[in-house]
Amino acid sequence: MADPLSPLFLSTAIEAVLRAGEVQMAHLGREIRVAKKSAIDLVTEIDVEIERQFRVMIADRFPDHVVLGEEFGTGPDPADVSAGRYTWVFDPIDGTTNYAHGLPIFCSSLALEIDGEAVVGAIYDPNRRELFTAERGQGARMNGVPLRVSRTAALIDSLLVTGFHYDIHKNRADLIELFSALLGRARAVRRLGSAAIDLCYVAAGRFDGFWEKQLHPWDVAAGALIVTEAGGTVTTMDGSAHQSRKASVLATNGLIHQEMLDKIREVSKSSAGG
Ligand code: IPD
Ligand code: CA
Ligand code: CA
Repeated sequence: MADPLSPLFLSTAIEAVLRAGEVQMAHLGREIRVAKKSAIDLVTEIDVEIERQFRVMIADRFPDHVVLGEEFGTGPDPADVSAGRYTWVFDPIDGTTNYAHGLPIFCSSLALEIDGEAVVGAIYDPNRRELFTAERGQGARMNGVPLRVSRTAALIDSLLVTGFHYDIHKNRADLIELFSALLGRARAVRRLGSAAIDLCYVAAGRFDGFWEKQLHPWDVAAGALIVTEAGGTVTTMDGSAHQSRKASVLATNGLIHQEMLDKIREVSKSSAGG
C-alpha cells in the first residue's frame, strides 16, 4: 500500500480534475443527453462519462482504494466513513444545472479521505482555468500560488454565498427565512450554483462566508479542506465539527464565523417558535 503522504495522491487528483475539465469543455453548449434524477435534479451524459473514466483511473492506480462518486450507485453508503480507509470523493461536475444550460460556472471536485479525513483536495474550474489544491497541513493554492481567506471582520462588510438543495420546491420556508435574514445583515449574498466553487472562493478571499443546509460529501470534501488550509473555518451550521458526511456547512474566513452562527441560531429559534 502506498504511503499516506504519497505525492502520487495530489498528482492523481490534479490529473483527474484537469481531465474532467477537458471533457466538460469539449461538450459545453453542444447537444448532450440530460436526464432528471428528480423534478429539478439533472444528470448529463457528461457527468456519467467523467465519473466512469475516473473510476477506471483509480482502479488501475490504486486498486485497494474506494471511490465515492455522485453518479454511480455502486459505491459505499455515502454516510459510512469507514467504508474504505482510502476513499476518493468525486463530483464529476459540480454545477450540473449551470452546465446543462451552458452557464460557465461549474467545476470538478475531488478529495482523498483517509479514515474519513480529507488529506488531498483538487477542484478545477475550466472556464477560468483555475486549479485549487490543498494537502493537509501544507496550505492551499490556486494555480500554484498560496491562498489566504479574506480579513473582513464584520458581517455588514461581508460578501456571502449560499446554495439550495434540490428539494427546495417542497421545503422552502426555513431556507428563505435564513437567506432573507443574512441578506439583511451582509453587504450582499450571491448564489452561483456550485458549492465547490463557492468554497474555493471563500479560500481565495473572494467571498467571506458560505453556508448551505443540505450537501453531499462530494460537494464539500475537497472545498472544505481548501478553506481550512487557506486559514478559514469550516463547521456545520450549528457550529459542530465539520465532517464531509454531515449535511450542513458553514465556511468562513474565521473572523465572521461566530456572527454568522449567532444569526443562524437566532433564525432557527424563531422559526421553531422558540
Ligand atoms: C449542487 C451544487 C449547488 C448546490 C447543490 C448541489 P451538483 O451540486 O453544488 O451549488 O446548491 O446543493 O447539489 O448537483 O451540481 O453536482
Ligand atoms: Ca455537487
Ligand atoms: Ca455533480
